Amino acid sequence: MFVNTENLKTIIKIRNVEIDDVEALNKVIDEVSRERQYLATTSGFPLENHMQFVQNNLQNDIPQLVSIINDEIIGWCDILPKRPEEFSHVGYLGMGVLKKFRKNGVGSQLLSTCIEEAKAYGFEKIELEVFSDNFPAVKMYEKFGFKKEGLKIKSRKLDGKYQDILLLSLWLKDSNKKCTTVKHRGK
Ligand SMILES: CC(C)(COP(=O)(O)OP(=O)(O)OC[C@H]1O[C@@H](n2cnc3c(N)ncnc32)[C@H](O)[C@@H]1OP(=O)(O)O)[C@@H](O)C(=O)NCCC(=O)NCCS
Repeated sequence: MFVNTENLKTIIKIRNVEIDDVEALNKVIDEVSRERQYLATTSGFPLENHMQFVQNNLQNDIPQLVSIINDEIIGWCDILPKRPEEFSHVGYLGMGVLKKFRKNGVGSQLLSTCIEEAKAYGFEKIELEVFSDNFPAVKMYEKFGFKKEGLKIKSRKLDGKYQDILLLSLWLKDSNKKCTTVKHRGK
């Protein structure tokens, strides 16, 4: 497909995932996974599982978006409620853009729209994990206000190479007060 990247920002469409997207979306996720660098998986999901996953998200109005150029899916972003119930005020974010379309604002458009969807859904906080050597993604999340919460050292070993995992989060509510610990009065 020929794409004039100069005009990319004006022709990208961001919309909710539809069930008819799943086959194409499945291939996009597989392609990014197979780069073996940025995502936690090195290949995509079985199509049937993916279909069920999207169906369940649709039934529950869970934020899941795709970016489209010339009717082709080129990226995705979803924010899934953590489980069990008492963790579900937190949404877990995953996203990606096909390699040839990166650095043209697609990721930013997906992320800003998905953050708005997450607010509308009622999430209080977004969490994500990103390999610390994934500089483009880390930069992008920082640009959107995500803060570091932790670092898992040498968490993945792939092709003999270790990668650390950064834990990042974004509070969607105005206040971000730390949990208070109840102090018991001693006698
Ligand atoms: C992370 C990713 C989604 C960004 O998508 P993108 O379309 O390239 O992002 P954008 O063009 O909107 O860039 C957004 C910001 O990211 C940062 N960025 C993007 N590419 C960068 C690069 N090569 N180097 C440094 N910063 C970069 C910049 O801060 C940029 O903002 P700016 O244009 O104002 O400087 C994309 O690189 C990707 O799909 N990577 C592989 C999958 C992945 O890492 N997913 C996230 C896993 S947690």
